[in-house]
Amino acid sequence: MLTPNLPLQQPSSPRWAEMVCGEFDRFLLDHAACERKAAAHAMSLICQYPHRTTLIEPMVSLAREELEHFGQVYRILRKRKVPFVPHDEKDPYVRSIISNLRTGKEERFLDQLVFSAFIEARSYERFQLLSEHLTEPELQTFYRDLARREAGHYRIFIQIAERYFPSIAVEEAIARISRLEQEALDAAPVQPTVHGGTPI
Ligand SMILES: [Fe+2]
Ligand SMILES: [Fe+2]
Repeated sequence: MLTPNLPLQQPSSPRWAEMVCGEFDRFLLDHAACERKAAAHAMSLICQYPHRTTLIEPMVSLAREELEHFGQVYRILRKRKVPFVPHDEKDPYVRSIISNLRTGKEERFLDQLVFSAFIEARSYERFQLLSEHLTEPELQTFYRDLARREAGHYRIFIQIAERYFPSIAVEEAIARISRLEQEALDAAPVQPTVHGGTPI
C-alpha cells in the first residue's frame, strides 16, 4: 500500500467505508461535486493571489486534473444510470475548517495552502480505504488510482507553501490545521459522503 506519510491525526473508520458501500450512488453524487469544487478551488487561488506566480502552473494542472476526475465520476454515474443531480450544498467539514483559518494577509495565504493540502490528504486516505471495501474490480482500481493522485496533490500544496514560507511556519500550520481537520471530521454529519462523519 502507498504510504505517503500524511500528517492526518486519525485514520477514518472502516464503518465509514461500509456506510458508503451501502449507499454508493449517493456517495458518487457527492464525490462528483467534490471534484468539481476542487477544480474551481485551484482556479480561485490563482484569482485570489495573482501576484503569487509560483501558484499558476501547478494550479492550472491541478484544475485540469480535478476536472478530469469530475468527468470520470460523472461517467460512472451515467454507466450506473444514476440521474445527475447537481449537489451544491456547502460541505460542513470544509466550512468548519475554513472558519478557523487565520485572517492576516500572509497567514491566510499559508493557511489556505495547508488547508487545501489537508483536503487532498483526507481524500487520499478515504479513497484508499474505500477501494479496500468495494467489491467491483473496476471501482476498486478507480479509487486506488485516484487515492494516489490525491496524495500527490497534498505534496503540491505543501511544496508551494515551502516556497513562500519558512519551514517552521509551514510545520506550525500543518500541526494546527491537522487538529482543525480532525475536529471538523469528528463533528461532521453522519452521511455517505466524501467528508461524512462515521456511524457509531
Ligand atoms: Fe481529485
Ligand atoms: Fe485532488
